[in-house]
Amino acid sequence: MCGIIGYTGSETAQEVITDALTTLEYRGYDSAGLALSGSKSRSIDIYKCAGRVSDLKSMLEKKMKPADREATCGVGHTRWATHGGVTDTNAHPHRVGTVTLVHNGIIENYRELTDEFRLKGKLKSETDTEVVAGVLDSFYAESEDPKKAIAETVKELKGTFALVVMFANYPDVVFAVRNVSPIVATQSPQGSMLASDLTALTRFTDRYFVLPEYTIAELHRSALYLWTLNGKPVEPEWLTMDWEKNSADKGGYPFYMEKEIDEQPEGIRKTVEPRLKDGIPDFSCDELDESILTDTEEITVAACGTAMHTGLVFQNLARKILHTEVNVCLASEYMYGEPVVGEKTLLIAVSQSGETIDTLEAVKYAKKRGARTLGIINVRGSSIARECESVLFTNAGPEIAVASTKAYTTQLSLFYLLIARIAYLKGIWDEDKVRDFTAHLCRTPDAVDEVLNIRKDIHIIARNILEASDLFMIGRGLDYAALQEGSLKLKEVSYIHSEAYASGELKHGPIALITEETPVVALATQESLLKKGLSNVREVRSRGASVVLFVKNAMSEGLEQEFNIVRLPDLPDEFMVFPAACALQLLAYYVSSDKGFDVDKPRNLAKVVTVE
Ligand code: F6R
Repeated sequence: MCGIIGYTGSETAQEVITDALTTLEYRGYDSAGLALSGSKSRSIDIYKCAGRVSDLKSMLEKKMKPADREATCGVGHTRWATHGGVTDTNAHPHRVGTVTLVHNGIIENYRELTDEFRLKGKLKSETDTEVVAGVLDSFYAESEDPKKAIAETVKELKGTFALVVMFANYPDVVFAVRNVSPIVATQSPQGSMLASDLTALTRFTDRYFVLPEYTIAELHRSALYLWTLNGKPVEPEWLTMDWEKNSADKGGYPFYMEKEIDEQPEGIRKTVEPRLKDGIPDFSCDELDESILTDTEEITVAACGTAMHTGLVFQNLARKILHTEVNVCLASEYMYGEPVVGEKTLLIAVSQSGETIDTLEAVKYAKKRGARTLGIINVRGSSIARECESVLFTNAGPEIAVASTKAYTTQLSLFYLLIARIAYLKGIWDEDKVRDFTAHLCRTPDAVDEVLNIRKDIHIIARNILEASDLFMIGRGLDYAALQEGSLKLKEVSYIHSEAYASGELKHGPIALITEETPVVALATQESLLKKGLSNVREVRSRGASVVLFVKNAMSEGLEQEFNIVRLPDLPDEFMVFPAACALQLLAYYVSSDKGFDVDKPRNLAKVVTVE
């Protein structure tokens, strides 16, 4: 949450920073701002406003001082508000005395610091960030040494932070330091740059490193230094980005969400194919120590939102295929449930960003108690990836739309590989059975493609729910698991209140809410559950609900006379979640875009949730 940037180099800082902020806007879009040090005036000027990066750009066009147009150094911020409302004053950067800074994270002891450093009269905003600027300014006044001041300041801070700082006397230099909240950095012929995530760095280079926690970064035009808090030099650990250079572009689509829905067949293929050897799952490219799969007895999946929903599918398959119970936990609740964790526990953490703080904390909690930890993650070098004992990376490429789509199906594909591998290792399946299973998995991208080819039909069906303010999504078994994701997708991008319900549970209460104004989206892809599922659908229809039914093609005969139906391509039941997911994503997408919403940036949300 919140995107931060620092740049110093040979290019126009204003352009580099606003471009990077546009890329990082998915991390928060309540307000935007930047500070520039004019190469001529040598002063540091701040421009900021509530609203989007586009509002900031308009402001710059009207108000930017001529000297700042040539500035080559600066910091930038796009905000997801935590402390203080969405106002111009609360927007970052903040300045106290000689210090100008931007911040991502939460400073828990900001009230105590305000008193201790007598900052009350000096602060203009309601933010915790401005307090940090005040503390830093106080320490700087003592030593006039930026690194010393930063080191002293971070010792005072409780909470999470990524801070990017400019000092008035060092107008061409950017400093940074962090705890938990991410910062990646790079150095290229165009200058030194750092940002909250990689998408902002692709403009210059595919080389980067993750700033270690409690390490000070000092960025100059043509050099970049790292220091411990005690002033000892540190060598960066350089990594290479595995994303293609333009993969974070919109590629002609009106919204990233549609582009990313379309990228799913490729994402699944890229995730699955390198991990198959002669049809048998093989995690040697991940250097996976397989005792993590064979020597553990109790599996828990901890994740948030969409990522957590992949665990529900895994749970269903693990029971049926591996005869193993899997706990699926909301990462934000995990530790409060005081789970029984020990050396025989395998904690699987699922995360697109690899930065979700609740998931990270769940991993730390389980590790501390002896659990083995396995990450299913999209971003290399991310905090959760570094915290987990082993990691399987999804090859989804950058996911920019706030609503997660391709991350979900690629995470699922890894879970399917894990199921097959565990079944093989534990002797539950012989090689033929494993090959049969993975052959079906390899057909899922084509099935998703078939759904993409009927997007027009889904668009037309979407009109049935456009005016709804509440709806239910109902299904049984794996369909219920898939609908929990479909329902989240719809509510977050269309603002329709949607609830996924197990069909059989409706009669135990919620059917009281069914009226002519409450459409029902039903999913029927599981042959053994069809009859019961359909009678539940008929029960809601006879109470006035209009029904949209997504049904596996082979089971659809005659149903078009009763319902508005969408036929999904035929796969064995346990793989139907892939085409179903894609169809439900498209449904949500079309409702949102037809309503004229900003599909990629839904109200109140942010892509990367780095606060608890
Ligand atoms: C919903 C969505 C969120 C994320 C959740 C976890 O579309 O994107 O529910 O899935 O915030 O994020 P990651 O996967 O980055 O840990």
